[in-house]
Amino acid sequence: MNTNNEIFKLLEKEIITEDQIRARLKELSEVIRNDFYDKDPVLVGVLKGAFIFMSDLLRALDINLSVDFMAVSSYGSATRTSGVVRILKDLDTELSNRHVLVVEDIVDSGLTLAYLRRNLLVRKPASLNICALLVKEGQQKVDLDIRYVGFMIKPCFVVGYGLDVDERFRNLRGIWTLKER
Ligand code: IMP
Ligand code: MG
Repeated sequence: MNTNNEIFKLLEKEIITEDQIRARLKELSEVIRNDFYDKDPVLVGVLKGAFIFMSDLLRALDINLSVDFMAVSSYGSATRTSGVVRILKDLDTELSNRHVLVVEDIVDSGLTLAYLRRNLLVRKPASLNICALLVKEGQQKVDLDIRYVGFMIKPCFVVGYGLDVDERFRNLRGIWTLKER
C-alpha cells in the first residue's frame, strides 16, 4: 500500500498485520470446521464491515455451508453505537432449524450483536453462534457469548481489513489505529 497520500497520514500504527490475520484465520477455521462440518451451517455476514473477513473465512472452510448477509446500521455517532439498530437488508435465507454462525467484524459495546442475536433467535434456528474478528477488551455492556474470537484488542478505534471510518480504509490489508483527530 502506498501510504504517501494525504489521507494515510491519519493512520497511526498497524496493530495486526496481514500475516497475523492469515495465521489466526487458519487456526480459527480449523476449530469452526470441526464444530460445523456435519451441520450445513448458514454463515451470516454483517455488512459492511465483515465482508473481507467473511470471504477469507469462507474460503478457509472446506465444508458444506451456505452464505447470506445482513446490513444493519446503528444509530449514534460515527464512533459510538447506541444499541438501537435498524435492519437495512435482511436475510434471504430461512433460518428455522439451521445452524447459524454470525460473522461480525468487531465487537465494542456489544449492543449491535445483542440486538441481532435477539432478532435472529426469533426465527428459531437450530443453533446460533457468533464469530468476531476483533473484540475490544472490557468494553462490552451486555453479556454476549462470543464463541469464536480472532483477536482481543485494546479499546481504541481501528480501521482496515473491512473496517472503516467514514467509509475509508476498508481496503487496508492489516488493522490500524488512527491518530487523534
Ligand atoms: P457495538 O454495537 O458497540 O459493539 O459496535 C459494533 C459496530 O460498530 C461494529 O459492527 C462496527 O461496525 C462499529 N465499530 C465499533 N468499533 C469500531 C472500530 O474500532 N472501527 C470501526 N468500526 C467500529
Ligand atoms: Mg461500521
